[in-house]
Amino acid sequence: MSEPTTVLSGDRQRLFLAIWPDAALAARLHELTRRTLPPGQGRAIEARNLHLTLAFLGSVEPTCRSCVESLAGEQRPPAFTLIFDCLGYWPRSHLLWAGCSQPPAMLRSWVDHLRGALRRCGLEPETRPFKAHLTLARNVRRYSGIGRGGRVAARMRHERVDDVAPVEWPVTALMLVSSETRPHGARYTILREWPLG
Ligand code: 2AM
Repeated sequence: MSEPTTVLSGDRQRLFLAIWPDAALAARLHELTRRTLPPGQGRAIEARNLHLTLAFLGSVEPTCRSCVESLAGEQRPPAFTLIFDCLGYWPRSHLLWAGCSQPPAMLRSWVDHLRGALRRCGLEPETRPFKAHLTLARNVRRYSGIGRGGRVAARMRHERVDDVAPVEWPVTALMLVSSETRPHGARYTILREWPLG
């Protein structure tokens, strides 16, 4: 019996632009989750589903998808490396994530470009400043950190950040991805890929 999926009217698809780690890196990040998640807490994202969202389109018509496809790849940065060296926890959304304490400046301008492409296609992208985060686990109700090196961001009491041994991610492509909600979690399909320069 096939699993029920989220029903979107007509040909609409729930889409986002993201970067995707290769299998070896995804396995390392998944292992980091396994070591970090408190026992009995949360749902670790499967290794094959780990990704970092750059711009979220939401549920869109095919014409909108085509528009974004024609604009998103216009300005691509050269391949670069992200260094994941911290873990964050957002108690309100119950997310445990991996982040970069010093993201390269070009990441912000790339995201600005992608958000601009979404706007030119009639969408209303996120207006809050981009915060690069790679979700490792959802439904994490309690997280008190991993001990050594832990620090709570004083100004933002809703965020906790811990330092971890750096994990390098060579970023070589941008992906357009669809998301379908299934009973046991999201199912992602990479629809299109643009290599970086
Ligand atoms: P998250 O990991 O922080 O939940 C597929 O759902 C991807 O799109 C996930 O990476 C998710 O981020 C992101 N996403 C889901 N809803 C979003 C929204 N309303 N705005 C921005 N990103 C969203």
